[in-house]
Amino acid sequence: MSNEVIVAATGASGMPYLLRLLEDLKAAGVKVHFVASGNGEKILLHETGKNMEDIASLVQETYDNGDLSPPIASGSIGFEAMVLVPCSMNTLAKISVGVEDSLITRLAVVALKERRKLILVPRETPLSDIHLDAMAKLSRSGAVIMPAMPGFYNKPTRVEELVEFMVGRMLDHIGVEHGYARWEGE
Ligand SMILES: Cc1cc2nc3c(=O)[nH]c(=O)nc-3n(C[C@H](O)[C@H](O)[C@H](O)COP(=O)(O)O)c2cc1C
Repeated sequence: MSNEVIVAATGASGMPYLLRLLEDLKAAGVKVHFVASGNGEKILLHETGKNMEDIASLVQETYDNGDLSPPIASGSIGFEAMVLVPCSMNTLAKISVGVEDSLITRLAVVALKERRKLILVPRETPLSDIHLDAMAKLSRSGAVIMPAMPGFYNKPTRVEELVEFMVGRMLDHIGVEHGYARWEGE
């Protein structure tokens, strides 16, 4: 199990996934270092009514996306996994070409070079060849591409169940136990 993870929110739709993931990681005793892009903060407020102060109560530490100097930005400081949820196609494209112009992109590029777990949860539709090429390149570099695509085979009746479906898959990849529904056959 991962005891220390980085969670980043960028400017895509899907903030309910972020909130539930942070709540579950806190409940599991996982230390979370959190950073949001400017558009991430705006969409967080729009979709959930929460701001950075609300998030601060769920995590170990929050960071400024414009500050590249905190110790976690260095490859020599260990974190076990990084999750970008939601991940904008803008940020995904930057990471795929090695751009490190913000704390979020720097941390993701470090995760790839240090062979740490990098989980990207993009949400965009439809996808262009440019999006698909960037995702394929990141996948070949070791990132886990986990589009926000909840399944319907457990016959969800509440939005929360769709959120739990996705968060369960993220927790699986971070290595944190959860009790969310899995496919158990007909
Ligand atoms: C309300 C709103 C919703 C958006 N939703 C998405 C989205 O679902 N996926 C996406 O890739 N970009 C989306 N965008 C566009 C990104 O926010 C935009 O590309 C921005 O430059 C991303 O910046 P960041 O990667 O630094 O967070 C949205 C923008 C707004 C204003």
